[in-house]
Amino acid sequence: MQLEGLQVEVPDHGGSLLDLLRESLGLRSPKDGCSPQGQCGCCTVLVDGQPRVACVTPARRVAGRSITTADGLPPEIRARWADAFCATGASQCGFCTPGIVCRLEGLRAKGTHADDHATVEQALLAHLCRCTGWRTILDAWDAATGPSPGPAPRPRDLPAAGARATIESGTSQHVGPEVALGHGGFADDTAPADALVAVPDGTGGWAVGETLTDARAAAGKVQGRRTTLAAVPPLALPPGGWAAVLRTSWVEPAYLEPDASWCVPGGDPVSALANGGAFGGKVASPVGAAARQLADRYGRAVRVLLDRETVVERGPKRPPVAAGADADGRGWLRVVRTPGIAAAVAAVAPRLVVEEVDQPGPPTSVALRAAGWAEAVVLLTGARGALAPVLDPWSGATASAEIVDGEVRVRVEAGEIGDETVLRSYCTGAAHMALSWVTSEGLAVDELGVVHDRTIRSFGVLRAVDTPPITVEVVPGDGPALRGSDAAFVAVAAAA
Ligand code: FES
Repeated sequence: MQLEGLQVEVPDHGGSLLDLLRESLGLRSPKDGCSPQGQCGCCTVLVDGQPRVACVTPARRVAGRSITTADGLPPEIRARWADAFCATGASQCGFCTPGIVCRLEGLRAKGTHADDHATVEQALLAHLCRCTGWRTILDAWDAATGPSPGPAPRPRDLPAAGARATIESGTSQHVGPEVALGHGGFADDTAPADALVAVPDGTGGWAVGETLTDARAAAGKVQGRRTTLAAVPPLALPPGGWAAVLRTSWVEPAYLEPDASWCVPGGDPVSALANGGAFGGKVASPVGAAARQLADRYGRAVRVLLDRETVVERGPKRPPVAAGADADGRGWLRVVRTPGIAAAVAAVAPRLVVEEVDQPGPPTSVALRAAGWAEAVVLLTGARGALAPVLDPWSGATASAEIVDGEVRVRVEAGEIGDETVLRSYCTGAAHMALSWVTSEGLAVDELGVVHDRTIRSFGVLRAVDTPPITVEVVPGDGPALRGSDAAFVAVAAAA
């Protein structure tokens, strides 16, 4: 086959094109977000100029064909997309965007008109982005395909942009054109080529192999969705004649980069939070400790990575609630037992009685975006019957939101802005996440607490075609920069 314009010959081991590119050839721009589910689009590459999802494309099927990853695009085209994504805030963690760049370049190359957003949104159905809320990706399409040379981009202070992104994501985050091409520094991309590979063995331990294929074979796991069971809120409403009630189910944070780390013997593991906070979902990830332990045991560098199914099974979820409240803010909120959740609710709704309930199900965490206090604000907004500005009790930022004629309008004040593109992008992503949570997300969990939906498409994340226009007004504030996207998330959830 031709790879990035060069003729290469590789033996066929019977695996996927993604395994061939990442594992055999060491290419790092195609990402593995859910293989072998073929549902997230992060591994999309161009095969003879057509976008193809590499994790479900058998390697043997591309014999004699031309493969191009985001890194292998002609330099001026690669730079055009990277600059457009950076300038519009269309890439945050950057895990999904190399695949999206390939998809959009495939569209552009076949002559899709710059104004044809309907075609772009249809094409984005093959992808998932958890960070950006899609709208900025359409802005990037406009920037990359609009009239050349186009308006001069506004000068950006990229370190300031990185500082704002770090505040919003809660962990170190880098901003620059290379991030959109997949070079955010993800742990599984920086591991030594000769590292052993460890994956969950399905019994709570680790299956270790010389290669990912070996490790997966040793684990002997079959991935996928197990049932079409509905996502039903598990808790009963507290008794009473409330002005408003709210019931939710477990919700998957649905970050795109599965947990990964690596470590050398005697060393410190590479952070699973290499370029993004995973919305709090990786705060207690086990992969770093496992990488350190396995590296010491084997006396070799070891890569540890979770597959999508294990992330769903073992990763923390938003705890379900069942709650009722009156217009004066009094009420009763039942919630699946979660350390710290009562304090999170009390921070915004001191008149709600919090009852923690033991319920079989996946792990829950208060570290997930605005967990507990978002539910309380949504409930009290319903009981009050009127929207009000939302104050983030932890960061001090404020946001308000309304939905007018199907358009989501958000206003956020988060101290010194630093970089407006980044703040706007995070608030757009937060608005998308809030709409998605309120209207379509939830996990199917049976009475024994077993999660049945384990594919990334089954979480209910709102697609690009279903995402309404979102406008974000950023109000400069006095004082230091504050995380504003959580307040935006809660304000939009309450409005929705
Ligand atoms: Fe799309 Fe993070 S930028 S998943």
